[in-house]
Amino acid sequence: MKSATCAIVSTLILMLAAVLVAVPARATDGVALTPPMGWNSWNKFACKVNEDVVKSAADAMVSSGMKDAGYQYIVIDDCWQVSRDANGNIVADAKTFPSGIKALADYVHSKGLKFGIYSDAGVKTCAGRPASRGHEYQDAMTYASWGVDYLKYDWCNTGTEDAQAAYTTMAEALKSTGRPIVFSLCEWGSHKPWLWGAEAGGNLWRTTGDIQDHWAGARKWPDGSCCSNGVLDIVDQQVGIESYAGPGHWNDPDMLEVGNGGMTTTEYRAHFSLWCLLAAPLMAGNDLANMSPDIKAILTNREVIAVNQDALGMEGRRVKKDGDSEVWAKEMKDGSRAVILLNRGASDTEISAAWTDIGYPDHVSASVRDLWAAKDLGKFTGSFKMTVPSHGVVMVIVKP
Ligand code: GLA
Repeated sequence: MKSATCAIVSTLILMLAAVLVAVPARATDGVALTPPMGWNSWNKFACKVNEDVVKSAADAMVSSGMKDAGYQYIVIDDCWQVSRDANGNIVADAKTFPSGIKALADYVHSKGLKFGIYSDAGVKTCAGRPASRGHEYQDAMTYASWGVDYLKYDWCNTGTEDAQAAYTTMAEALKSTGRPIVFSLCEWGSHKPWLWGAEAGGNLWRTTGDIQDHWAGARKWPDGSCCSNGVLDIVDQQVGIESYAGPGHWNDPDMLEVGNGGMTTTEYRAHFSLWCLLAAPLMAGNDLANMSPDIKAILTNREVIAVNQDALGMEGRRVKKDGDSEVWAKEMKDGSRAVILLNRGASDTEISAAWTDIGYPDHVSASVRDLWAAKDLGKFTGSFKMTVPSHGVVMVIVKP
């Protein structure tokens, strides 16, 4: 009897040990508990990034009120790196970053912001700069010594590398530095990263190819390969993967194009609203130092951002589609629902949201608040409807 108990206890201990060993080593626990908010250089500046651009983005993030609205990370994307030194350490471009990356990180930190950088799991980045394959631990140590708080890690030039293994290696390297670093996986959804991204140590993972600054229509790249996406193409690719997102691990439908000039203000408002409802990372991609009041008003709308940053961390989903008219809903921590009426069509149209579509019984009376109009619309029972502009949204909170 005694030895049987002993055997059971040892088996339980072994099982527990096996579970502990199998538990994934997250790159960083305790960061990105709500979707990360910040700015990234790529969508506006691409390889024309330099230290003045980054500093002015940090300055503008503070002076525009974006920092107060919750934006935190200033991230340099591709093209900051040129070579490796004799010891294999990554070297920043001395022409575009003459003060060095550490000094730039210090500047960003002095503004009360956090600093991010970019690399790639292959031999070269997408823009052909030196990447991290074979240098993962060395690069992670370098980043930590510079004060990096966020790493976007791309997937170009990876050959036959296994995606989950490659991302896990960098996650382990980041973890070994002891510095909390948000780990942003950018392999474009090619290997369904929502299935393994959290286990590999990712805090967010791109779900699609690159966004472009247009409303709809996937467009081929100049080399004929497929495709950059309009806002609607990206949104459609989020359907079905919502449940993989949650605190610390988010689906990333790519960075914002709000303010880059290719869409109307109505379309940008819709783009931002949808990203907020999707619990997407909110990485502004425009020139923060030169934005119009309309664009600033979109990026800093606190009621809309509050939907994105809701502590429950539920990703919203499309709950109804009727041609070009759609209803999207996100469950909030207080039991209310954020709801978007989306009009993809060419003319204004009335769209109705039924309580049964957003998770309430018909008979419930609920207050409805229009977030962009900042206006309480009153109490409704069973449903509510609004006229929605072409390529636009109405975004409300429905609260029983
Ligand atoms: C890929 C990524 C983009 C950007 C570029 C940089 O295309 O998906 O977001 O980082 O590389 O070269």
